[in-house]
Amino acid sequence: MLTEAPKGTKDIYGSYMEEWQRVEQVMRELCSDFGIKEIRIPIFEHTELYLRGVGETTDIVQKEMYTFKDKADRSITLRPEGTAGVARSFIEHGMYNNPQPTRRFYIGPMFRYENTQKGRQRQFHQFGVEMLGSYSPALDAEAISVVAELLKRLGIKDVELRINSLGCNECRQRYNTALKEYIGSNIDKLCDDCKSRFDKNPLRVLDCKEESCQRIIAEAPVVLDYLDDECKEHFETVKAILDDMGIKYTVDEKIVRGLDYYTRTVFEFVANGIGAQGTVCGGGRYDNLIAECGGQPMGCAGFAVGIERLLLMLEAQNGEFKETNEMDIYIGSIGKEGLVKSQGIAYRMRSEGIRAEGDSVGRSVKAQMKYANKIGAKYSVILGDNEIAEDTANLKNMETGEQEQIKVSELVEIMKKKING
Ligand code: HAM
Repeated sequence: MLTEAPKGTKDIYGSYMEEWQRVEQVMRELCSDFGIKEIRIPIFEHTELYLRGVGETTDIVQKEMYTFKDKADRSITLRPEGTAGVARSFIEHGMYNNPQPTRRFYIGPMFRYENTQKGRQRQFHQFGVEMLGSYSPALDAEAISVVAELLKRLGIKDVELRINSLGCNECRQRYNTALKEYIGSNIDKLCDDCKSRFDKNPLRVLDCKEESCQRIIAEAPVVLDYLDDECKEHFETVKAILDDMGIKYTVDEKIVRGLDYYTRTVFEFVANGIGAQGTVCGGGRYDNLIAECGGQPMGCAGFAVGIERLLLMLEAQNGEFKETNEMDIYIGSIGKEGLVKSQGIAYRMRSEGIRAEGDSVGRSVKAQMKYANKIGAKYSVILGDNEIAEDTANLKNMETGEQEQIKVSELVEIMKKKING
């Protein structure tokens, strides 16, 4: 137990960490190009926020939340997702006064007590974007286009964008009535979970993965047939913008998403080749959430990408990640005087933006040279008592093997020229 991470969690290190950082860098640049600013919300919130925001009948709230009482007996929940937290933050800090829309992104861990499998963890990470303050279909399309552009910049292929519309509250009401009627007439064929879901929120039956329920779901009425003219027009405009952007999609009337806050456009990006958990991104419009959390009604759209799933795709496509070793100079030493000077020079070089490392282990000279090779040092030098006393040493180019005699006192300047030009 002591040396094993909890089930469903993962240490992130080595080449995987490097790839992660590269991906995060792309996300940050992308957001800058779209005018989306970062937000950091707490990792835990009052449980009530998720009951209200995500929805009491969802699987997340029913089965998957890490909820506990703090020492003052408050019910706290580790965030299972970021949208409700961003909505809470928006209201709390009066972001209504911003020029709208307010665009925010977050990158961080989320927690869901799920059955673990490839691509499904209990602590996982999301890159999410929330755009608050507009009812225009342009916002839905813009949110989708952020994901499309991310995948493009990462060079990820073989991903399908699926979109659907759940309509507004009135359309949903009409659809719910039809769905209730259909499911009600098949209720004895559903699993026990669905029987209780059916009473509270028939839409949630459509999320069920049980085979017996799937057979019933396959024949269920679809929400697109219940959209009013305005919602139809909204969906058509979203599609027209995507067409103009050259973003390919398929309309998938079965997408209803597993969270309660969605209205109108919903979408998923689904990858082939990373196993059963292929949904790399989910999102949509959520016009009710801000009001549900106690704010003024407000049109919003957003999405979240699962970072682990994105990395699974990159690995499936590009092969195993490789760690890059990059060091400008290794400054080895012999004896006390050499050790003192080499550490001092390495310290000054780093202030000049030169990547430098010295001997901090007390290796033999041979072992130090081997180590310099391993860390991918471009240059190396060994400083002993003689080199310090005579202010001369041999600087070795590790790629060509060439050596040049240099003044130890000028080493920082010499390296500055070599590395920074
Ligand atoms: P979600 O569909 O629950 O939506 O999650 C978004 C993405 O997070 C999924 O598509 C998947 O890639 C990743 N993900 C979810 N659960 C796990 C897990 N257990 N292990 C690994 N990856 C996982 C939301 O969370 C919404 N807040 C998205 C959103 C933002 N909608 C509007 N704004």
